[in-house]
Amino acid sequence: MDADRLRSAVDWRDGRLEVIDQTLLPERLVLLELTTVAEVVDALRRLAVRGAPAIGVAGAFGVVLGLEDDAAAASLPAALAAMERAAAQLEAARPTAVNLRWGVRRVVAAAAAATTGSELRRLALHEARRILEEDRAACRRIGQAGLVELGGRRRLLTHCNTGRLATAGLGTALAVVYAKAEAGEPVEVLASETRPLLQGARLTAWELVNAGIPVTVLADTAAGAAMAGGLVDAVLVGCDRVARNGDTANKIGTYQLAVVAAASGIPFYVVGPLSSFDPETPDGGRIVIEQRPAAEVTMLAGSRLVPEQAAVWNPAFDVTPASLVTAFITDAGVLRPPFAPAIATALAGRADPPDSLSR
Ligand code: MRU
Repeated sequence: MDADRLRSAVDWRDGRLEVIDQTLLPERLVLLELTTVAEVVDALRRLAVRGAPAIGVAGAFGVVLGLEDDAAAASLPAALAAMERAAAQLEAARPTAVNLRWGVRRVVAAAAAATTGSELRRLALHEARRILEEDRAACRRIGQAGLVELGGRRRLLTHCNTGRLATAGLGTALAVVYAKAEAGEPVEVLASETRPLLQGARLTAWELVNAGIPVTVLADTAAGAAMAGGLVDAVLVGCDRVARNGDTANKIGTYQLAVVAAASGIPFYVVGPLSSFDPETPDGGRIVIEQRPAAEVTMLAGSRLVPEQAAVWNPAFDVTPASLVTAFITDAGVLRPPFAPAIATALAGRADPPDSLSR
């Protein structure tokens, strides 16, 4: 496998939603063509497509797939009902990353202006395409903002996968890494393996190896020693939902990295697009944390690791308090404390971009 074979993790081709099946990496690079809402929901639930921005894009196109059959196109009421059914199923697939609800609801709102069933489908597709293109542009802006912010910081610790596999573009935290590499700056990544599903070990390492960027995988339990031992210049993580006050939900294990970074005097950056910021959530205590099946912890590559009688707690995300975040690197620039007003100002400027795609 080489870098050329890594296409967009999520794309729309010939009326189908094409995603890379991330459950099979790094062993096999397989593309899935999704043609129904049920297939999109299944791909979201089993993390075949994952990462907050990527699932926002997938959810947006999922709504379009809900309008594919003739019955939906036959009349406006039938199309509206089909769209609401699809939206409800897609939103329920994963509860924490706000991008999913944001992408789905944007498409629903844009299509609501339709006067016929077929126009509704056309408006929905148009909006989903805009969301995908905006995500690509947001990744580029994030990379450039991070390049300036992190000048001189070479050894970057990251968690989970926040790159080309997690977005429609170059990524969030990894977009900063790619921007540094492209600018000819020295950069190397320490990737925590990210138990239980190993997005760091399987996906981040695969992506960076393919891009020719030095990457060292470490067990999650080694991250504290790496920071205390002076091996890390900055920690960069992604985000699934940022509350109005800056409290941040991200992959389980992020909170303990933030605590150790603070104790070690290492800057801790949260990197993500404004589509991951939720103006409706006042603080981290209100963020619903997805609980995942016990088998993700008890089983590894088909082998049982944990006695059957043991109970398992498997939250997919944790919340890092805003007080532990140095700054947010976003597509609207770098947001610094106090975060509540900085986030409010950035979100107030989140206008829909000009209508650039033809209908
Ligand atoms: O459960 P996942 O793999 O979807 O979790 C992904 C993360 O937590 C990422 O860090 C986050 O979505 C940011 S991706 C740019």
